[in-house]
Amino acid sequence: MAEKITVSVIKADVGGYVGHSSMHPDLIATAEASLGKAKKAGTLIDVHVTRVGDDIEFIMTHRHGTDATVVHELAWNIFVECTEVAKKLKLYGAGQDLLSDAFSGNVKGMGPGVAEMEFVERKAEPILIFMADKTSPGAWNYPVFKMFADPFNTAGLVIDPSMHDGFNFVVMDVMKNRRITFSCPEEMYDLLVLIGAPEYYIIQSVHRKSDNDICAVSSTQRLALIAGRYVGKDDPVLIVRAQSGLPAVGEVLEPFAFPHAVAGWMRGSHQGPLMPTSFDSANPSRFDGPPRVICAGFQLADGKLVGPRDMFDDPSFDHTRMMANYIADYLRRHGPFEPHRLPLEEMEYTTMPGVMEKLEDRFEKV
Ligand code: 13P
Ligand code: 13P
Ligand code: MG
Ligand code: MG
Repeated sequence: MAEKITVSVIKADVGGYVGHSSMHPDLIATAEASLGKAKKAGTLIDVHVTRVGDDIEFIMTHRHGTDATVVHELAWNIFVECTEVAKKLKLYGAGQDLLSDAFSGNVKGMGPGVAEMEFVERKAEPILIFMADKTSPGAWNYPVFKMFADPFNTAGLVIDPSMHDGFNFVVMDVMKNRRITFSCPEEMYDLLVLIGAPEYYIIQSVHRKSDNDICAVSSTQRLALIAGRYVGKDDPVLIVRAQSGLPAVGEVLEPFAFPHAVAGWMRGSHQGPLMPTSFDSANPSRFDGPPRVICAGFQLADGKLVGPRDMFDDPSFDHTRMMANYIADYLRRHGPFEPHRLPLEEMEYTTMPGVMEKLEDRFEKV
C-alpha cells in the first residue's frame, strides 16, 4: 500500500497587533524560523506559516499520522516561543489561547485549534485550507454541508458518477463530547436538524461513501468549554480535498459566495456575516470584524506544499464582500439587541454571570 501523508493545521492566538485585529510580522518570522528547522531535521516534510486576523496558523505535512505527539509538541513549543516575542512587544492578549502551562501529549484541549487528515496522495492532490477569525468552529457547518450534500451547490453530486452515492458526515456533539455519523443524501434532514444549531453540533469530518476516504476535516475545539469562561473565540480551521471524485475546487469555494451569519465578531458575542477575503485583507477592524475567512490552496507533491494560492483573491467574490458589508451595517444598528448580540446561552461565558450575580438581590418575587 502506498505510504500515507498527513496534513496538520494547528493554530492559536498568541497575541494580537493591534488589539485583536492582526498579526505582528515578528511572530510569523519566529514561527517560520523554528518550523524551518523542524523541516530541515526531517520531522516535517513541508510547512507554511500564515495568519488570519490575530491567529497564527501552521500548515504542516509529515508522515507521523494524526494526533502525533512529535508534531503537536513542536507546534506547542513554537506557540510558546511566539508568545515570548508577543510579550516583549506587549502585543494584545499575548498567549491568549495557551490555556495550560505545560504540554501534555496533544494540543487538543489545551487551547489551540487542530484539523488533521491522513491519506494516500492522489496523482494530483488539490487541497484547500480555510482559516477564519472572529468566529467559532460551527461556522463551517453551512459551507461543508453545501459542498458535500447540496446539489444546487455541487454539480458533481448530480453529474459525477463517483460522487453520486453521496458522503458520510461525522458530527460532534460538543456539549456532550460524543459523535454521530449521517449518511447523505438519505439522512440529510436528520443531519440538518443537528448542524443547524452550530454552537452545539459541529461537522467534524466528511468521508466518501465508496471507500470511506477522508474528504474534509475541521477543528472542533471550543475554548469556552475547555476554559469554562470566555477567553477569546475559538477561531476555526478546515481542510478540504478537491477534484477527481470529490467536489471541484470551485464547488468547494462556492458556498462562501454567500456571507452566512456566524457567531463571533466583537467580544465573541455577536452574529455577523462571514466575509471571504484575500490574505492581505484578513484584518478584521470594524467592531473587531466582521468575521473573516481566507482560503489557502495547495497542490501536494509527495507531501510538498506547492502554493499557496490566495483563493478568495478573486473579483468574483467582490459582490459577496459588498453584501457582507450591507449585512454588517444592518446588524450593527441593533447595537446590544439580539439577534446581533448572541442569545443568552451563548453569553453565559461572557459578562452575563457577573451582571446576574450583581442584580440577584434586587429581583423582587412576583
Ligand atoms: P477541467 O476540464 O479543466 O479539468 O475541469 C473539470 C472540472 O472539474 C471543473 O470544475
Ligand atoms: P479573538 O478571538 O480573535 O482573539 O477576538 C476576541 C475579541 O474579543 C474580539 O473582539
Ligand atoms: Mg485575539
Ligand atoms: Mg482570533
